[in-house]
Amino acid sequence: MKISASLLSARDNLSNIIEEMNNLDVDYIHLDIMDGLFVPNLSYTDNEIELIMKNSNKKIDVHLMVNDIDTYVNKYLKDNVESITFHYEAIKDLNVIDKIKKHGIKCGISIKPETNIESIYHLLPLIDKVLIMSVEPGKGGQEFIPNSLEKINKLRKKIDTLNLDVLISVDGGININSAAPCIKNGVDILVIGSALTNSYNKKEFVNKIKV
Ligand code: DX5
Ligand code: ZN
Repeated sequence: MKISASLLSARDNLSNIIEEMNNLDVDYIHLDIMDGLFVPNLSYTDNEIELIMKNSNKKIDVHLMVNDIDTYVNKYLKDNVESITFHYEAIKDLNVIDKIKKHGIKCGISIKPETNIESIYHLLPLIDKVLIMSVEPGKGGQEFIPNSLEKINKLRKKIDTLNLDVLISVDGGININSAAPCIKNGVDILVIGSALTNSYNKKEFVNKIKV
């Protein structure tokens, strides 16, 4: 079980939170990128992105919530990037998958809550990760949508049946309560934002998730 920490809800204290994450047993920093088109909001400024990329001692897990996937992917083909994930709903050209993988970076595809998990089954042999959105993409601090568990469960079975090496990640509303059933249904990587960054004792929080 791995944790990818989203700092979106801790932007006013970004330098401190990066330092805190550097000293915690989290595995990746989840970098949410929004274009104001695929989702209504924008996320980090260029300066904030640079601050995170330069100061984090964890590898970066990039989550692109954008329409123009290709242009944004080009910005993140960097050594300290673990994976680049874009949205199934925005795909125009599958060549981007190879471009990411050629750089030794894992390629993920994400689906919104209203998208069926079956829609991406044909892409599973091409990718390294599926990111199931368990809230409407666009902002942190929302509540976990329970039917995400069924998607996780179906996807776990499909990946195991096909005997593929594809990771399952879930993003949105993950806290101590929602983490447990996600893990039980077969998630490999939990993206955790506000529940972690707002937590008073972050070390204890991480330990509880990782037991
Ligand atoms: C939502 C983002 C998430 C968000 C998670 O669009 O993709 O990564 O930051 O935050 P929490 O855990 O607060 O839902
Ligand atoms: Zn995200």
